[in-house]
Amino acid sequence: MTPTPQHHALVRLDGKDYHFPVMVGTENEKAIDIRTLRQETGYITFDEGLGDTGSCTSSITFIDGEAGILRYRGYPIEQLAEKSSFVEATYLVIYGDLPTVEQRKRFSQMLTKHARLHEGMTKFLGEFPSASHPMAVLSSGVNSLSAYYPYLATNNHQRDLEHFDEAAAIAISKVRTIAAHSYRVSRGLPLNYPRPDFGYCENFLHLMFSEPYNEFVPTPEVAQALNLFLLLHADHEQNCSTSTVRMVASSGANLFTSIAAGVNALWGPLHGGANMSVIEMLKSIHAEGDDGTKFIAAARSGIGEQRLMGFGHRVYKHYDPRAKIIKASFYKALASLRIKDDPLLNIAMKLEEVALRDDYFLSRKLYPNVDFYSGLIMRAVGIPENMFTVMFAIGRMPGWVAQWHEVAANPKLKLYRPRQIYQGSPVRDYVPIEQRG
Ligand code: ACO
Repeated sequence: MTPTPQHHALVRLDGKDYHFPVMVGTENEKAIDIRTLRQETGYITFDEGLGDTGSCTSSITFIDGEAGILRYRGYPIEQLAEKSSFVEATYLVIYGDLPTVEQRKRFSQMLTKHARLHEGMTKFLGEFPSASHPMAVLSSGVNSLSAYYPYLATNNHQRDLEHFDEAAAIAISKVRTIAAHSYRVSRGLPLNYPRPDFGYCENFLHLMFSEPYNEFVPTPEVAQALNLFLLLHADHEQNCSTSTVRMVASSGANLFTSIAAGVNALWGPLHGGANMSVIEMLKSIHAEGDDGTKFIAAARSGIGEQRLMGFGHRVYKHYDPRAKIIKASFYKALASLRIKDDPLLNIAMKLEEVALRDDYFLSRKLYPNVDFYSGLIMRAVGIPENMFTVMFAIGRMPGWVAQWHEVAANPKLKLYRPRQIYQGSPVRDYVPIEQRG
């Protein structure tokens, strides 16, 4: 739904007044609609990083960072975390409503049906060198789905939408199989086949850790912690990778290739890599024989530009609602794994305890974010560090799929094409090579 223009913003440029409509969203968030700005005034806006730019309207996720609110399709994340599951939340994010019993059953059947990879794809993934980063394998694997299912990837949005249910189920289900294969490849281990009798998370852990002679069976608490981790990452509105998916989709590109672009954007350490940085920070504190006290003091004083990783957030200026939720399940998972005396965990708890009482962090509204705990959870579950971003990608898949659909189904779709402020050389004449100094 496009918010209705209610009033106008007055802009005075070169002595002339211009009026631009103000858009108001469902939750009363306001934006100045400047779509005719350049045409009317010759000016463009400048917003490096796009932090103050609304690039689309969307009905998937609502975030109020000041109030610590996150909702998928209107449902508070706290309720979904308590009562729902990753698979159900995936359906909600993609299709807009919670599924009925029949819809839920059918969706699960579709996921089971599509869990297994085409044999050619298994071979292709198995050929990657063992030194490959799992994110490289994942993005190649996801992109290759457009080659294995060309009838779902025509690059004609109308035609691709006719097969959307199948393509969406393939993306959600196979990302987990490709991800686990990327891990097995990097360890030189034989690839596992999915088990149709397992749930989404149990199946992933089986694909990752089962050996021909030893079936991996996670404790319910571990499977639940993973379920929650994925659910909490299912969508987060217009972040870097999601905007990338939408940008690629805006060219008319198919679902698989658009979401593969999302995987690539997520790989960067400023986006999907933060949970790994938390573990690296804890390891380095431990290696220096610190219990966290010295590190906090340095982070507080800005010495060496050290930051307390896993604290603060660009959008949440109150507690990250996902952090609160994941923290509770974290302790349950640790108890089920009988982990009591992990030195990194002890350091993390010390950092948290000190920072939450410290005026420096409180006055700057720096609270633990989801990454502070999610790295620790994955480490406890036995996920290797270079797989942390892959786990994030599995969790974010429903959001990318839903956002691709929103773009593809938009009858007024416009190709994303921002402008720039050119700061290079003014016009100059070509100089033949023999005359160059
Ligand atoms: N540790 C110590 N000081 C910090 C931290 C931190 N983690 N984060 C911000 N600050 C300080 C800054 O030094 C600055 O202090 P000043 O006002 O005295 O100059 C003030 O808090 C504001 O900092 P900004 O960088 O302007 O805050 P911003 O909102 O832009 O940054 C960010 C958010 C990038 C997440 C930041 O808090 C950070 O670097 N955190 C650590 C990395 C991290 O955990 N990232 C994951 C984010 S969650 C996600 O992406 C899924």
